[in-house]
Amino acid sequence: MTKAFIFDLDGVIVDTAKFHFLAWKNLAESLEIPFSEEENEQLKGVSRIRSLQKILEWGNKTISEEEFKRLMAEKNEEYLAYVDQMTEKDILPGVMEILNYVKSNNYPIALGSASKNARTILSKVGLEDYFEEIVDGNEVSKAKPNPEVFLKGCRLLKVEPEQAIVFEDSKAGIEAANSAQMTSVGIGDKSVLNAADFNFLDFTEISKITIETLINFKKQTN
Ligand code: BG6
Ligand code: MG
Repeated sequence: MTKAFIFDLDGVIVDTAKFHFLAWKNLAESLEIPFSEEENEQLKGVSRIRSLQKILEWGNKTISEEEFKRLMAEKNEEYLAYVDQMTEKDILPGVMEILNYVKSNNYPIALGSASKNARTILSKVGLEDYFEEIVDGNEVSKAKPNPEVFLKGCRLLKVEPEQAIVFEDSKAGIEAANSAQMTSVGIGDKSVLNAADFNFLDFTEISKITIETLINFKKQTN
């Protein structure tokens, strides 16, 4: 069975997770809502709207729609100021080797990200041409853990969900891939991403042989 590769962006291909963290932390603190790495973990893979809703829920705060929009814009502005400084040096270790390997072996490859800034980031780091298909936060209505973003990626690549290998750094993303019967590969802390079929700290742990193992893996259907 031919396999296809779907990559999440933030925290998988580039280290933008730290920029999201900084911008959300500043916003939460301006509202006097405590925000640590623990809260941040729960926002990974989650859309911008849902992230702000969650922060407000944690702080037991209700705000007007207008204020909500203003805060979202403010957060994005701060985030984009960090993104603006990015170059190809911000591509995470080992990513290029894997992308090149997958591409040179002609496997279909897509991006599946919740971010509305995905294309901006890809072009900043010079990776736009690597992906046959890009599905981002502008094209989906249901946020991860709903698998919509990955299912759309499969449709565009013309493969079945069972053929997809998904790389993710978030719990929500692993859940999304699992619920659609895709092979899920957790990149990051194994104790957080323990629902994944495979776990690696980063891409430097993934050799060409490992890629072949992922390709040959047959997921048990539940
Ligand atoms: C996900 C990130 O990839 O995209 C989340 O993990 C982020 O932290 C979400 O909130 C939406 O991103 P953006 O760029 O549209 O605000
Ligand atoms: Mg991510």
